[in-house]
Amino acid sequence: MVNLAPVDEQIAIPDLINDPYAIYKRLRAQAPVLRVKSIGRTMLTKASDTRMAKDTPAIFSSNDPNTPMERAFQAHTLMRKDADEHARERGAMAPSYMAKNIKGTWEEIYQKIAERHVAELPRGETVDLYTALAGPFAAECLTHLLGITNASIDEMQRWSQVLIDGAGNFGWADAPFQASDIANTEMNACFDAMIAHHKADQGPSALSVMVNSDDPIEMSQIRSNIKIAIGGGINEPRDALLTIVYGLLSNPEQFAAAKADALWGNAFDEGIRWCAPIQVSSRLVKEDVEIRGCLVPKGDTVMTIQASACHDEDLYDAPELYDIFRKKQPHQAFGNGPHFCQGMHIAKRMLAQIMLPMLFDRFPNMELAGPVDFTGFGFRGPAAVPVKLV
Ligand code: HEM
Repeated sequence: MVNLAPVDEQIAIPDLINDPYAIYKRLRAQAPVLRVKSIGRTMLTKASDTRMAKDTPAIFSSNDPNTPMERAFQAHTLMRKDADEHARERGAMAPSYMAKNIKGTWEEIYQKIAERHVAELPRGETVDLYTALAGPFAAECLTHLLGITNASIDEMQRWSQVLIDGAGNFGWADAPFQASDIANTEMNACFDAMIAHHKADQGPSALSVMVNSDDPIEMSQIRSNIKIAIGGGINEPRDALLTIVYGLLSNPEQFAAAKADALWGNAFDEGIRWCAPIQVSSRLVKEDVEIRGCLVPKGDTVMTIQASACHDEDLYDAPELYDIFRKKQPHQAFGNGPHFCQGMHIAKRMLAQIMLPMLFDRFPNMELAGPVDFTGFGFRGPAAVPVKLV
């Protein structure tokens, strides 16, 4: 008879927020399939297991009926759907993310946004790049991609945070949902105000392609999938940019090589491998399954820890180090399987091809001006990156 996975009662959520990588290292070696009481889920920490779970949606479903995400977004988003239902909604936004639109539309717009934000940085002074650049840049780019240019940068950042807080409100406290209800009302009004414009003047933005489709998905789903892009399209490029800047500035040899040989693609991939902006995903188990000799029963929820997969010693030497020279190989920071990140090419374009070369062309001698602390369990990145702009 196969036994259930061991249970852990020691790992506490604050430990996962503060120093998850030390915990995952221990789990990969000692208990790669582990029921963790504090989060009420079975953690998978080995790269081959997280990949297998995400690549097998018939057994590991995204449709978790108990997720606070549905309450926070006032509807199930495409991230919580499977099979045809998921494909239909993902397909509805897909034209916006296509290479032809990245090249033909978004690249030029993002370039201009980046130029303005970088030009506004005060040369010679010390700033926190989180608030001075990374957050506002990501938010403004997203207003164009989504077709909601009537939203302010501050609104976008606030909505994004409120949605993330609501989706992670596993204790079902009232306050985060009250805040997400207010944000939902504001977002719905923002989207509605743009619809007539998009119907009259069709473009490649996500809202425009969805409302102008010959076979549109339901308005509730158009709204909730724009919201998932607000919830997920700001913090990941923001945290990725901050992580990469920190990685480069704390490794002068790599920083010099990146500038000399324009190694921005390597700097990008290594940054999100080193600290995956989305660290974990949940999947509901649809039938009994055995993983590494442990029974994971139907009805269980597994947490695939892609952050841990990206540090798996089976694949990476000295995974805890930022190293843009390491051997190239696929990582799981963008997920895999049917829910693979839809914004991957856009994120790469905006950071590796636009922002990083521009930022370090203007400030080639940028220096860290204080300590950098990373934080977060589900989403992770630096809380602040103080730099001297030289
Ligand atoms: C460095 C930046 C980014 C990283 C590391 C990242 C990572 C991820 C990951 C890991 C997933 C899969 C989650 C799961 O399996 O449950 C995902 C899904 C998704 N991402 Fe990204 N993302 C990034 C940027 C973006 C951007 C800029 C957008 C544009 C709006 C975006 C849109 C999406 C969407 C719509 C999904 C859901 C896809 C689906 O469920 O079919 N992402 N992302």
